[in-house]
Amino acid sequence: MSTEDQKEPARVNQSWGGRFSEQTDAFVEAFTASVDFDRRMYQQDIAGSRAHARMLNKVTVLSDEDLSAILKGLDQVEQEIEAGKFEWSVAREDVHMNIEARLTDIIGDAGKRLHTGRSRNDQVATDIRLYLREQIGRVIWEAKRLQQGLLGLAEREADTIMPGFTHLQVAQPVTFGHHMLAWFEMLARDVSRYEDCRERMNMCPLGAAALAGTSYPIDREFSARELGFIAPTANSLDAVSDRDFAIEFCAASAMLMTHMSRMSEELVIWSSSQFNFINLPDRFCTGSSIMPQKKNPDVPELVRGKTGRVNGNLVSLLTLMKSQPLAYNKDNQEDKEPIFDTLDTVLGSLRAFADMIPAIECKQANMYKAAKQGFSTATDLADYLVRKGLPFRDAHEVVGSAVAVALEKELDLSELSLKELQAFSATISEDVFDVLTLEGSVASRNHIGGTAPEQVRKAVIEARKRI
Ligand code: ARG
Repeated sequence: MSTEDQKEPARVNQSWGGRFSEQTDAFVEAFTASVDFDRRMYQQDIAGSRAHARMLNKVTVLSDEDLSAILKGLDQVEQEIEAGKFEWSVAREDVHMNIEARLTDIIGDAGKRLHTGRSRNDQVATDIRLYLREQIGRVIWEAKRLQQGLLGLAEREADTIMPGFTHLQVAQPVTFGHHMLAWFEMLARDVSRYEDCRERMNMCPLGAAALAGTSYPIDREFSARELGFIAPTANSLDAVSDRDFAIEFCAASAMLMTHMSRMSEELVIWSSSQFNFINLPDRFCTGSSIMPQKKNPDVPELVRGKTGRVNGNLVSLLTLMKSQPLAYNKDNQEDKEPIFDTLDTVLGSLRAFADMIPAIECKQANMYKAAKQGFSTATDLADYLVRKGLPFRDAHEVVGSAVAVALEKELDLSELSLKELQAFSATISEDVFDVLTLEGSVASRNHIGGTAPEQVRKAVIEARKRI
């Protein structure tokens, strides 16, 4: 036999080759294969096979001998994969067929009985759910580590005054700790989105088989329990075809990354020499190959940029799912790479941030100076006048004129003399300086969710109870 002849049968796939009269085109074989990326789910695939085999045995479709051969064989397959000795084959298309075929190589006919009452359609739907369910746990863990870091920084900088912005114009003074707590809240909602989506995906498709279920007397509750799912999925057509759970995962991730892009943007702005509010430790920055003076905030910039691919992955999956008729279609094989890429990107971004955030140095004096420059206590003066009896709209007007004069004199409102201030309203007295100072301004916002240092410290305590 020529070497050509020897190779030929290998491409008629042993899992479904029966009805085929010619071998798969070599390019098509590679084009349709997913093993290069779906092998990431080998543990889940093996766990699913163990559960399925035990179930078949329980309902007496699979003998005790076959079950023990399958379980032993799967152990060996798993060891081979973990030792890097497993030969992944594109001819065997995907992770499912690679593992099953190897199992059969090892244990013979018992391996061929594993696929009784099962299809790759319910198998893959199970594997992805198992995989994502576990990986979401890692994402949440990293997100919480970042949240802890934010709380530490919030506590450390509870008294640090900085300008708060609207339209990126100085608006009112806030505390840096308060700003960190805003980020914390964004992440808290992200974590709860992941938890929600994990809960919804935690249903077991095994038994849905190709699409209609199976004629064997299967026990779906048993398989679901074996794999730690809440329950079997309620409809076989839906179970094998929908990837809404993957879309939800990407949506939660796109939201998280969008939040992180906003944090990134602020870190980039704050670390610029124009703002000079913070110092990012050197180990999170890089230099320029041409401009020796440069220190670039690479980590936040990169996270900001990576938001694009995660948003893109969400759109990929939505578009993948759109208009797909029931039930399974090969389109769905395209769900893996966006899922994995999203996961890797989110985990990496969270990890970099969780490491970096606690190491941020605040340049308190610069933040204070910036807060002083933008008439950030103008609202406080208006509120003061209201307390003295002026209607708010009139107070707004009065303060507007005071700002105009101060601008002309290049002074802050708090730097005008009492006499100068009284020219705008006779109701102003010496106590006005209590509210015109930055400290007075932030301390007065002392209610739930307010920026006062006292509130920040309380909020940190409350937040620690929540995570
Ligand atoms: N590799 C396939 C996927 O990821 C497994 C399911 C294949 N099912 C089928 N009927 N071709 O979707």
